[in-house]
Amino acid sequence: MDNVNQPEFWQQRYESGSIQWDMGQVSPPLKAYIDQLPESTKDQRILVPGAGNAYEVGYLHEQGFTNVVLVDFAPAPIKDFAKRYPDFPAEHSICADFFELSPKDYQFDWILEQTFFCAINPSRRDEYVEQMAALLKPNGKLIGLLFNVDFGRDEPPFGGTLKEYQKRFAPYFNIDVMETSTNSHPARQGSELFMSLQAK
Ligand SMILES: C[S@@+](CC[C@H](N)C(=O)[O-])C[C@H]1O[C@@H](n2cnc3c(N)ncnc32)[C@H](O)[C@@H]1O
Repeated sequence: MDNVNQPEFWQQRYESGSIQWDMGQVSPPLKAYIDQLPESTKDQRILVPGAGNAYEVGYLHEQGFTNVVLVDFAPAPIKDFAKRYPDFPAEHSICADFFELSPKDYQFDWILEQTFFCAINPSRRDEYVEQMAALLKPNGKLIGLLFNVDFGRDEPPFGGTLKEYQKRFAPYFNIDVMETSTNSHPARQGSELFMSLQAK
């Protein structure tokens, strides 16, 4: 299970086309969230970690959000994204380990979670919560989706429950929303929670 902490594991999945998590489109609940944001948020600093093929980043960019940063430690999807979006600022496309981003260098207004939490080793979940909180500006938000399913497997996606998430996030975040998403992609209908959390 430790190999999911290594970029090689994910790079190999991209190279072999074994990317079952990839929806090939922006996740519908996240598109709906982005669509209701006011014009005044277009210059907010946004992070999408474990972005993979980064459909959400592409969508934000198309909608005129100018300060979006994508991070993934596998080079393949980063290269591919650059080909698809040649006008996306190269300095906002970062091949790095999320856990090694320094909060001194990176501070965001909001962060978008999309099948990243379920990809990391579950033993690192508290570290994930702490790092998310550290990378957010005061009152910054963590927005996204989490699986509300126990997949019962020793490989990603690693699932979880609403109760577990509430307990893990509560020390660092106010949980404004964490409930079953009503507008998920058909393949994920009923299996994911939409969350809107505010850093304490
Ligand atoms: C299941 S995929 C999801 C990709 C994308 N969010 C999506 O929904 O299509 C998980 C992604 O997280 C990346 N990843 C896993 N651990 C990471 C880490 N510690 N730092 C940066 N990226 C990581 C992987 O390379 C992979 O692209």
